Amino acid sequence: MNVLIVGSGAREHVFCWKIKQSKICDDIFVAPGNAGTAQLATNLDVSPTDFQGLKRVILLNKIEIVIVGPEIPLIKGITDFIKTDSELKNVLVVGPSTIGAKLEGSKEFSKLFMERHKIPTAPYKSFNKNTLSKGLDYLSATKPPYVLKADGPAAGKGVLIIHDLKEAQRELENMLVNNKFGDSGHNVVIEGFLDGIELSCFVLTDGKTHLTLPSAKDYKQIGEGDTGLNTGGMGAISPVPFANKAFLKKIEDKIIQPTINGLALDQIDYKGFVFIGIIKVDDEPFVIEYNVRMGDPETQVVLPRIKNDFLEMMICTAEQSLGKINLQIDPKSASTVVMVSGGYPGEYEKGLEISGIPNNSPSSIIFQAGTKVLNGKTVTNGGRVLSVTSISKGFKKALKKSYETVEKIDYQKKYYRKDLGFDL
Ligand code: AMP
Ligand code: GLY
Repeated sequence: MNVLIVGSGAREHVFCWKIKQSKICDDIFVAPGNAGTAQLATNLDVSPTDFQGLKRVILLNKIEIVIVGPEIPLIKGITDFIKTDSELKNVLVVGPSTIGAKLEGSKEFSKLFMERHKIPTAPYKSFNKNTLSKGLDYLSATKPPYVLKADGPAAGKGVLIIHDLKEAQRELENMLVNNKFGDSGHNVVIEGFLDGIELSCFVLTDGKTHLTLPSAKDYKQIGEGDTGLNTGGMGAISPVPFANKAFLKKIEDKIIQPTINGLALDQIDYKGFVFIGIIKVDDEPFVIEYNVRMGDPETQVVLPRIKNDFLEMMICTAEQSLGKINLQIDPKSASTVVMVSGGYPGEYEKGLEISGIPNNSPSSIIFQAGTKVLNGKTVTNGGRVLSVTSISKGFKKALKKSYETVEKIDYQKKYYRKDLGFDL
């Protein structure tokens, strides 16, 4: 089977690496991919949101299944585009319909969904430009910290957690009136602050049934001790030590099953991943957000623990036959350490030569993200550059292996967090 993976991060490199191991895989194409995917597949110079360009390469390369990595093409409707095009309609797609993608594309939509299906989440109210003064009053009447969320997609930057009332009111006005997040901030959800520890849960659904994949914990902040600006993710581990069997069962019963049932009840066409961001408050799980894709860097620790043929899982998702997959999970722990460009998540240089990436490391798997090949050399091409995954008994040993590998890889201004797992 010929496969097209849409995206260019480490997540897509993992998809590529895992699908390459499938017996039913013929050729893999990645649009646009990176230097890592180029070693396993054919990179195609097409943007994930150029649907006509994607159509051209799907037809040209006789693609039979499309797996969509990032959220933006899903929110923009790539699945509906393929499914309603007369020449593409038989191509399988892993990724929800446009309406399904609103679970990530609109915070208000996802809050209403959770309310309708009685899924535990923080209480909230939503405001727009016309109801600004009500929003300001609402802030005065609630307690800090204030959680302000831009309704639309904002690349992880649309959530503000503010302790001072005046500042929260100023920021609400900035979002609603001064277009702080552009169109994404024209509606703002203000929700209650959940005080607890976070984890990421992953579900694969064909719209009828689902598989609960391993959960993971990622480290979002740039600085050690969880300080500084938020990033796309600086590392992850799986499984999550504080999520024991009883807690995972609560997540399954109170969150995952009602989510899958809710999609069916609302007649939302959903064949793909659901990534549920959860906060554990005391011993209860609450949803902080839905994403309609896999997480990055979580994919780098979740997929290596799945023993099944991943392409078969993808086909069964798209063909609504996921019930026949018997999920097999490696009980060992996986860790990934993300190596970034100095300056990230602010400004950083690109084009710096990377040395020391092992060809066949016995202890780690190197997934590439912001890299490209220039004159035969692998150079940096983004903020998050590489994600170094290792598997071992227990997350501490896995992390140790990743750190040993990270030290052998070099480029100017390389940075990574040396304290992953510090809080566990
Ligand atoms: P989101 O984009 O909704 O995942 O929010 C980004 C980050 O903000 C999350 O990973 C949490 O750390 C934090 N966050 C979001 N909502 C809440 C909340 N209601 N209470 C506490 N922290 C939150
Ligand atoms: N690691 C968080 C995300 O993928 O959004």
